[in-house]
Amino acid sequence: MSSHKKQHDGTLDMVTCLNGVLANEYALFTKTLNYHWNITGPRFHSLHTFLEGQYRELLEVMDEVAERVRILDERPISTIKGMYSHMEIKDGQEKAPNAETMLQNLMEDHVTIQNQLKEIVTDKAKCETDPGTEDMLISLLRKHETMSWKLRSHIVKDGK
Ligand SMILES: [Fe+2]
Repeated sequence: MSSHKKQHDGTLDMVTCLNGVLANEYALFTKTLNYHWNITGPRFHSLHTFLEGQYRELLEVMDEVAERVRILDERPISTIKGMYSHMEIKDGQEKAPNAETMLQNLMEDHVTIQNQLKEIVTDKAKCETDPGTEDMLISLLRKHETMSWKLRSHIVKDGK
């Protein structure tokens, strides 16, 4: 893919990072949608609806990342195969886990993306020439922090 080429101005380097984020967003979107279909248990109605809100939000996030790549005049990953080969998040499994494990898996995946975003925005060399992308990534980070807080709040824990 052309986005792996490097240029002195760092633009393509940033595109490679954005495509890495895109692939992870795609994986998390797919997993959230799949859990929305397959969740069972006494909290079915509320969790089914909650997960729908989350996958819709992730679709918007994905769209924003891909369009940012276009704004930088490059190409976002556009095939499932490409997404699969660039994603770091573990793919879902055929056998659906229980509701509690689903929420935990999603929360961990959000944290993975948060760490990925933090790594990019704290890379001065990458961001100083592109504050527009930096700003977008920071806003994505906040969205993921909110989404993972909501997931965490659904997980039942004793004593806290
Ligand atoms: Fe649905």
